[in-house]
Amino acid sequence: MIGTSRNGQPDPLQTEAEISLKRLLPRLDAFWSEDDIACGLAREFTQRLVAQWPRLFRLLFTLYHDRYDFFYHLEEIMFTAARGWKQRSPELREQDDHRLNDPTWFQSEHMVGGALYVDLFSENLSKLRECIPYFKDLGLTYVHLMPLFAVRPGDNDGGYAISNYRSVDPRLGTIDDLRQLADEFREADICLCLDFVFNHTSDDHYWAQHAQAGDIEYQQYYYCFPDRTVPDQYERTLREIFPTVRRGNFTWHDGMQRWVWTTFNSFQWDLNYGNPAVFRAMLEEMLFIANTGVDILRLDAVAFIWKQMGTNCENRPEAHQLIQAFNCMAEIAAPGLVFKSEAIVHPDEVVKYIGEEECQISYNPTLMALLWESLATRSTQLLKKSLSHRHRLPHGTSWVNYLRCHDDIGWTFDDKDAAQLGINGYNHRQFLNNFYTGQFPGSFARGVPFQHNPATGDMRISGTLASLAGLEQAIEFHDPKLIEMSVRRMCLLYGITLSVGGIPLLYLGEEWGMLNDYDFVKDPAKAGDTRWIHRPKMKWEYLQNFKQEVDDQNGSIRGKIFRSIQKLISLRKNLPSLAGQQMELVPVDNPHVLGFVRHFEGNRTLVLANFTEEEQRVPANNVRTGGLGRFFQDLISEQEIATHEDLVMQPYGLLWLDRI
Ligand code: GLC
Ligand code: GLC
Repeated sequence: MIGTSRNGQPDPLQTEAEISLKRLLPRLDAFWSEDDIACGLAREFTQRLVAQWPRLFRLLFTLYHDRYDFFYHLEEIMFTAARGWKQRSPELREQDDHRLNDPTWFQSEHMVGGALYVDLFSENLSKLRECIPYFKDLGLTYVHLMPLFAVRPGDNDGGYAISNYRSVDPRLGTIDDLRQLADEFREADICLCLDFVFNHTSDDHYWAQHAQAGDIEYQQYYYCFPDRTVPDQYERTLREIFPTVRRGNFTWHDGMQRWVWTTFNSFQWDLNYGNPAVFRAMLEEMLFIANTGVDILRLDAVAFIWKQMGTNCENRPEAHQLIQAFNCMAEIAAPGLVFKSEAIVHPDEVVKYIGEEECQISYNPTLMALLWESLATRSTQLLKKSLSHRHRLPHGTSWVNYLRCHDDIGWTFDDKDAAQLGINGYNHRQFLNNFYTGQFPGSFARGVPFQHNPATGDMRISGTLASLAGLEQAIEFHDPKLIEMSVRRMCLLYGITLSVGGIPLLYLGEEWGMLNDYDFVKDPAKAGDTRWIHRPKMKWEYLQNFKQEVDDQNGSIRGKIFRSIQKLISLRKNLPSLAGQQMELVPVDNPHVLGFVRHFEGNRTLVLANFTEEEQRVPANNVRTGGLGRFFQDLISEQEIATHEDLVMQPYGLLWLDRI
């Protein structure tokens, strides 16, 4: 059948897609029979391939049609997917089936995530299995293990300089340990999230080594230039991501006598996705990783994967097409897999990565930044402005709401949103940087600068949640009132990420209020990167201590933080109104208070949050109209609230109100 477009004219691309498929399918049949694959498995794969084909072909054709060897790559890509499916375990295929029947499984109120570095948390993968009861106790249903693959010696950017995607860093264990952990997670109903670091490899990856040895085919996997001519042309419009590491975006390689594109550290070589061989090769790595038992794949540094001269080489339309092509391949060869986008860029760009056919879930960096912004300013106006038009997402997708992660905080709000409130974006970022480095008079925060760029004035912030929220300072001042305020700030922010709509994600260690670790400077491989200040080693002895304190009710600070978070998590998991994404702001007639309603399938919860250390009033009428009732129960304090008079909120008070 010849394809026709909407206006009835033949669609040449669809025609090409159909002809190509007709040529390829017999080869696929031969592949299955050669390998003696059960016909049920082959049929399922072929059905999905045929269903996805028009989309896949269009994407790959758009990206690579000008390559004389396009059809060769197309065929190789198809076989790579077929091999990936063949190698997928029966358990994972069974799970694929469930998820195909329930594609929005991750929108459940039961979803609560945690992220950790294996070495810092439990030393290695086999000891991590023993931590499953801890995850259960806290209430986690999804655990993100920071990159754990083989890395280059010395500095490896916290695991993001990968030298082999198929072997685990020997200090952490083996691929079999990883598979076993994934199995045990599955039995315990915990999803596994791993990174797909696909923008760059380490400079000692097999491909980079071959490039260094002069192999042209592998030099074409990267961006290599004999002199500064082309790099200088690109530089005119590029940003610098790690300006304190190295100026510019290119690194000279002596052996190769070439400049290499290195957006991040000099040892992280950007992959050239203009070359379809790179897409195919990384697809193979992706399916290998997925088949270890991954539920959620975190697509690292998505903004940077396509370069175009004359642009800032971020968020290019082709970057989206590439991710969609990977998404297609996952649909075909690992259909239970969900993509999570890591785009820490302008909010208008963040959302462009989110879609059922691109990344189903995404970090929510704007919410994260604006929660911190509201704490600093004691005003919720910019947060509300942003939530009012930026929280809604397409069907079948979800935010991942977080407060801290292994990276820095960048102030990625929209300057136009700010300008409408009379706030100057540049000045406001300077204020926030001053505030969170503790320099602004009266600041409670103890953050440190990350990647200060004197040329642009740009700067980001490192620091743990507790240190940024005031706990470090309060402990130093021996001030119980300040300690109390800092704990409340933490709970306030948690209360929002756990209820606002989307998957909450904790950075483990936060749950017991870990403070900045200033000792990172003693390790030369870490000293140059302040993000290590918020990547300390887990101190299990703390946990022992505060577990004992639970019994004698003499809560330490850590114990108090842990129990508060644990309680909020368990409340969330019992509140059907918190499923999905639907959120509406409610007017509260008070700039210091954030109010919103969550509803899902007839259930409704009103959330109110006071961002100041003073009491705040919310008019009774607003509570009644927001909550659609006269009497409520605050699920957190278990108190009843009547609305015959104005609601008085405690300092940093947080209420989750259900109608009674
Ligand atoms: C991502 C990671 C970050 C890393 C960078 C380069 O942004 O989260 O830690 O430095 O990518 O891989
Ligand atoms: C990311 C972001 C940047 C972030 C960095 C990791 O890709 O674009 O804002 O801070 O890499 O530090």
